[in-house]
Amino acid sequence: MKQEANLRLILLGLPGSGKGTQADSLKKKYNIPHISTGNLLREAISKNTPLGKQAESYVQSGELVPDSLIINLVKEEMTRNHGARGFILDGFPRNLAQAEKLDIMLKELNLELSLAIEIKLNEEILIKRLTGRRTCSKCGALYNIYFNPPQVSDICDVCQGKLSRREDDNVQVVNNRIKVYWSNISPVIDYYQKNGILHIIDGNQEAPGVFADISQIIERL
Ligand code: AP5
Repeated sequence: MKQEANLRLILLGLPGSGKGTQADSLKKKYNIPHISTGNLLREAISKNTPLGKQAESYVQSGELVPDSLIINLVKEEMTRNHGARGFILDGFPRNLAQAEKLDIMLKELNLELSLAIEIKLNEEILIKRLTGRRTCSKCGALYNIYFNPPQVSDICDVCQGKLSRREDDNVQVVNNRIKVYWSNISPVIDYYQKNGILHIIDGNQEAPGVFADISQIIERL
């Protein structure tokens, strides 16, 4: 990638495929904002904002929040980050309507997507990844009690904040999130394949391996 180029990237993949983990590393390496619709929704829910109140039941059950709410949320974030040298979109778009709306949004800003990365992996490991996930309630650092445990149980290595478990990371909701993913994602994948910007990455590797593969694709731009 040329040094002066902007990077506008979307990360696609099953719940637990590692989108948030990779976005966090990419954000640090390329110094661009990480826009996670899941994180934005959880923040709105914890602050009990009007959006949070409308989104809560969908997030808790693993259903998609209505497109109109999500599209406004992404628009606001795009506008807020307009001066940045690109963005990483994590968890959006999740269906064809959202992908088409994203293109319209970007056209209005005179921008284009650089890349769509699909992180693909075997579904058997997802349950362990998601039920084992812990997040620092203070700095947002991600852990996994099976694959990447903190040094002291339930305490963040970075800031000593308390680690918590996401409400939607229980087996029943995880299974629904997987089902919802498969019922919506195929047209999105086809859409980016036709646009010629889709790359598929092996998400079964450890996180640094996945990151190396994504970085290699970016460097080739
Ligand atoms: P969201 O927060 O986007 O959840 P998700 O898509 O289900 O994805 P996750 O955040 O669970 O997983 P991830 O791929 O980021 O994995 P992570 O890196 O954390 O959405 C939540 C809800 O919000 C949705 O269900 C929906 O209701 C709503 N929503 C959001 N966006 C929406 C939209 N656009 N439209 C409508 N509704 C929307 O990793 C998981 C764990 O695995 C961690 O513990 C991590 O440490 C570990 N791990 C990661 N990579 C590896 C690796 N390579 N090897 C071993 N362990 C790893």
